Amino acid sequence: MEETQTKRLQEKYTGSAPRASSPKGPLLAHGPGGGMQSRFSGAKPKSASQIIRRLLTYLQGERKWLVLSVFLMLAHSLSSLSASYMIRPMVNAIAGTGESIVLGLCLMGALYLASMLSFYGLSRTMLSISQRAQTRLRKDLFEKMQRLPLEFYDKSSAGDLMSRFVNDIDSIGEMLNTAAIQLFSGLAAMAGTLALMYATSVILALVASAFIPLSLIALKLVTDKGRDRYRSQQAALGALNGYIEESIAGQKAVKAFCREELAIEEFSVLNTDYKKKQVRSHSVASLIMPLTNLVSNLSYVAVACVGVLLVALRNFDVGGVAVFMNYARQFGRPLNELSGQMNSVASALAGAERVFEVLDASPEMADAPGAITLKSCQGRLDFHSVSFGYIQGRPILNNISFSARKGEKTAFVGSTGAGKTTVASLVPRFYDIWEGSITLDGVDIRKLSRASLRENIAVILQDTRLSTGTIMENIRYGRLDATDEEVVEASKAANAHAFIERLKDGYFTMLDKDGGNLSQGQRQLISIARAALSKAPVLIMDEAASSVDARSERLIEEGLKRLFSDRTTIVIAHRLSSVMDADMILVMEQGEIIERGRHETLASQDGRYQQLLCGKAELA
Ligand SMILES: Nc1ncnc2c1ncn2[C@@H]1O[C@H](COP(=O)(O)OP(=O)(O)O)[C@@H](O)[C@H]1O
Ligand SMILES: [Mg+2]
Repeated sequence: MEETQTKRLQEKYTGSAPRASSPKGPLLAHGPGGGMQSRFSGAKPKSASQIIRRLLTYLQGERKWLVLSVFLMLAHSLSSLSASYMIRPMVNAIAGTGESIVLGLCLMGALYLASMLSFYGLSRTMLSISQRAQTRLRKDLFEKMQRLPLEFYDKSSAGDLMSRFVNDIDSIGEMLNTAAIQLFSGLAAMAGTLALMYATSVILALVASAFIPLSLIALKLVTDKGRDRYRSQQAALGALNGYIEESIAGQKAVKAFCREELAIEEFSVLNTDYKKKQVRSHSVASLIMPLTNLVSNLSYVAVACVGVLLVALRNFDVGGVAVFMNYARQFGRPLNELSGQMNSVASALAGAERVFEVLDASPEMADAPGAITLKSCQGRLDFHSVSFGYIQGRPILNNISFSARKGEKTAFVGSTGAGKTTVASLVPRFYDIWEGSITLDGVDIRKLSRASLRENIAVILQDTRLSTGTIMENIRYGRLDATDEEVVEASKAANAHAFIERLKDGYFTMLDKDGGNLSQGQRQLISIARAALSKAPVLIMDEAASSVDARSERLIEEGLKRLFSDRTTIVIAHRLSSVMDADMILVMEQGEIIERGRHETLASQDGRYQQLLCGKAELA
């Protein structure tokens, strides 16, 4: 029971399994969202070496620093190895067969100092390298996110994406910071120790080397098992973050419906699941340490026994055995340390996989080769028999045709879910259509560069989004080079000026995240002002003033009419009063335009519009 609930919540918040409502259709497989679909249906795990190779590309341009760290690593290994070799002459000196102890001690001290300094240098260098690599990775990820199609965001949980940004990149950094140093210095130390072992005694070295394969097998087991487990651990963390994010954003709804207990319960399901997966992944990692320890102890004992035999039978020097015992210890140590780092390696690999999944998701389809940039746009917009749906096989719009001209106001009316917002989002190519064509000034919008298309279209979306910053900054987002005066003028047209003036800091009032300190209607006024500021010849307003009272809406209408008298305006209306003066009213129902004409004509016909007008049918 609990198991299924965990699964359900996980799927909900990470999108880790394909959803019933979004079958893998040809549109998603070949269209702009192709890669994304595979991301959510659990892309095939990549091999560790593929991931590592790709991570290494983030170290490009660090060549001289990498060379420096290799040098420092060698210096560190050499100095510490030679320092430990000093045991041989010194033990022999004490045993009375060698020379000066003092000289030996001084040399040993100097070597250990050199080893310490070079290790410090190595850590510092690796730290900078890893921080730069992380910065580059974050930059790539953010840049990628700006290029992903809206379909990607329709299906992903913000919390899970955040988790990829923060936790997964962190775990990669962690590995680069510490594990990489240990890995490389460990390997260098092991190679050096092995060489010295063979130089000291081939027989003993052979005995010690016989244990290497055992340790390697143990190590391999852990990385393989560990990676699977870390992958599900990170996914569980993503789900947890998704839930937290949604709960923060939706606190009001939680409180309004008294769903605190439910939220706590669901959270604890995800929380427990994360804990379980953490324990599972860390438990493999904690198994390896004792395992490699055991192997290294066995090899230690074997070397000691064979060493004593050698002294007794072959007249091998005692110092030689002493130094060898030390080597045997040292030889096992990097392996132990490495296996201790395996959890960080495994979690970094799992993290990298999740980051690369986003990096590999298909971006918005590239502009067609030779994409056109409109020099001066007249703003004539035509839909020619357009069909479209969000999901393959489930059309939302059928055969939509209309024409909107400069200086005219085209209005859409229709009940909720009729497809009005969908029509509006096709114009700036938020989604690509299935059939038919949309033209701007007679040019198919798919032949235009996206930048040129979107520059010429100002959209006021149904759900307003403002960002942290002053009101001035928020409005100026519509045209970055607008002067303060222009911002004020646009605000006046949007009927926002009066209320902004009344705020404590006027235009310099700071907005909280998404304008939480304003009323919904005020937020809409600001986004209308933002669009009014843009010089785009086509303005699309999707129920832009739905939370504004009727009188204010009329004022906005008048203001915009002044400002947009020579532009193309498309209005999706929530009040019939705001469409009566439209040059063309299109009545939509279930993805089709069922009536069209001016107010007078439509009102006199016995049709849907008349029903709406008489209040016999509901408007959106
Ligand atoms: N992002 C989306 N993914 C899948 N279906 C969607 C999406 N947005 C809207 N729809 C569906 O498209 C239909 C039309 O929605 P919409 O255009 O928003 O209607 P309106 O704006 O007229 O109320 C609805 O049935 C809705 O379920
Ligand atoms: Mg809508």
